[in-house]
Amino acid sequence: MQTKIFYIDENSLELSKQIILDGGAVAFPTETVYGLGANAFDTAAVENIFKIKGRPNDNPLIVHVHSDYDISTLVEYVPDYAIKLKKAFLPGPLTMVYKSKGNVSKAVSCGLDTLAVRIPAHEGAQKFLKYVGLPIAAPSANISKHVSPVTAEHVYSDLDGKIPLILDGGKCCGGIESTVLDCTGEIPVVLRSGLVTREMIAQIVGQCDQYVLKDGERARSPGMKYKHYSPRCATMLYRFDGREDAVKQYNKSIADGVKAYILCDDKTAKLINAENILNLGTTEEQIASNLYLKLREGEKVAQLIIAIIPEKQDGVMAGVVNRLTKACKN
Ligand code: TXA
Ligand code: MG
Repeated sequence: MQTKIFYIDENSLELSKQIILDGGAVAFPTETVYGLGANAFDTAAVENIFKIKGRPNDNPLIVHVHSDYDISTLVEYVPDYAIKLKKAFLPGPLTMVYKSKGNVSKAVSCGLDTLAVRIPAHEGAQKFLKYVGLPIAAPSANISKHVSPVTAEHVYSDLDGKIPLILDGGKCCGGIESTVLDCTGEIPVVLRSGLVTREMIAQIVGQCDQYVLKDGERARSPGMKYKHYSPRCATMLYRFDGREDAVKQYNKSIADGVKAYILCDDKTAKLINAENILNLGTTEEQIASNLYLKLREGEKVAQLIIAIIPEKQDGVMAGVVNRLTKACKN
């Protein structure tokens, strides 16, 4: 199959609609990462997404809809706090999990009785979702376990020959996946950290929990248990206060002839002495936005990426630390 990359216009939108209606998959931009979308009502199309990615079949997908879509056709009950959060943050990088009405294919939620719904803010995503007019089940548009794609070229390098069309909406500005928030209980619970932070949610509705997977427990967000977001080279991970050990490891690797790079934020880069640096930038937003870009850049030039976790760990950095830890898990 030939994979085409087109900018988003009337022609490419028409083509994307035909592909989706025929049960195919289309990659599209969002403000977080690129998604790989299929008609959420079409079981074969949804199952095909799992096959294309090599995704474990117990890791459910998020359904994407445009801003005017009536989600009461998809989910049972939207609690008051969720209505407030929708007003505050949507469209945007926040995915909300509700009790499902069971109207979309069962393959979307992998048999769970809940449904994750996301209304992306990206203009190109909105155009695509409006043009197609259907709820679109979409994971990130990468091969399973690889770093999520933040450019059309990243999608192409993972999925060339496997999908017919990539809608090119430029670089995703957010850079890490949406916050996944469980809205089925009394208070909201963050299942996956992202750009809409636990602190931001608590500010609107008073309370917000953070789900922590305990050993042996069945994950509430099944994606949590997998190795993820990993570059195709060796990785090592150090805490901020272990940065001198990271530099020692770097020097040893270089002396052994291993092409090593240190991945860290600008603050850390200024504190250490190493030539090969993948610099994530200064502000929290920059660091999130550059994370996957630099991991993908790194895997092209490095045999070993030595990542140093930023000092700050709350707010947006909670999502960054979570992704970095999983990317460098052995
Ligand atoms: O920013 C994003 O969320 C991107 C873009 C494309 O929208 N999508 C994305 O999808 O990251 P994916 O499939 O890579 O991650 C979906 C996450 C997984 O951790 C999955 O376990 C969780 O959402 N999830 C999906 N449905 C769920 C449900 N019903 N209950 C709990 N967690 C769910
Ligand atoms: Mg993913």
